[in-house]
Amino acid sequence: MQTLQHKASEWSGVRTSDAFAIDGSNLFDKLGLQPFVNLSTNFYNRVYDDEEEWFRSIFANSKKEDAIQNQYEFLAQRMGGPPLYSQRRGHPALIARHRPFPVTHEAAERWLHHMQQAMASTIEIDEESKIKMMNFLRHTAYFLVAGDELKNQNQERPCSHGATVQHPCKNF
Ligand code: HEM
Repeated sequence: MQTLQHKASEWSGVRTSDAFAIDGSNLFDKLGLQPFVNLSTNFYNRVYDDEEEWFRSIFANSKKEDAIQNQYEFLAQRMGGPPLYSQRRGHPALIARHRPFPVTHEAAERWLHHMQQAMASTIEIDEESKIKMMNFLRHTAYFLVAGDELKNQNQERPCSHGATVQHPCKNF
């Protein structure tokens, strides 16, 4: 069986080694916190203003300010910074936290479109760091798509009586 990482690489077109090049240098030490705040603010301003209602509605139950803070704390932590996200929210467990949302291929492309635009308008981040971060984000977006497909398969697995039952997967 193909692992989620394999699927993420295949669908995103990003090799695992490129996705995790962020671990080869400490981007937080290089950039500091503010560029992550600016990136997440630029990103969610676009998401909450998206003309595509189907995508905007995925975020309808979250407050924009909270979503921005969740994201910049996670990104700063993942790029080598202090564990701001985990101290406040616990383990990132990204697949589990995205379970309520339809993370389809289309949603990943729309998410990445906004992230690419947000990245382009965040002048505090240098070009080399942008490339590393986008490779990680693109790979992770498709990792979440792979997790979402697994969730859907598990929900529709027939039980021994032939009926379709819920099999919530707690592993991710
Ligand atoms: C692929 C398309 C994606 C969709 C549709 C999506 C959707 C969402 C939604 C609706 C939320 C709730 C907003 C909030 O309350 O914080 C969320 C939260 C979050 N997302 Fe995503 N996301 C996607 C990709 C990603 C990627 C690629 C990452 C990281 C690299 C990511 C990291 C996070 C984090 C850290 C949270 C906060 C979780 C929490 O603390 O509850 N997401 N996402």
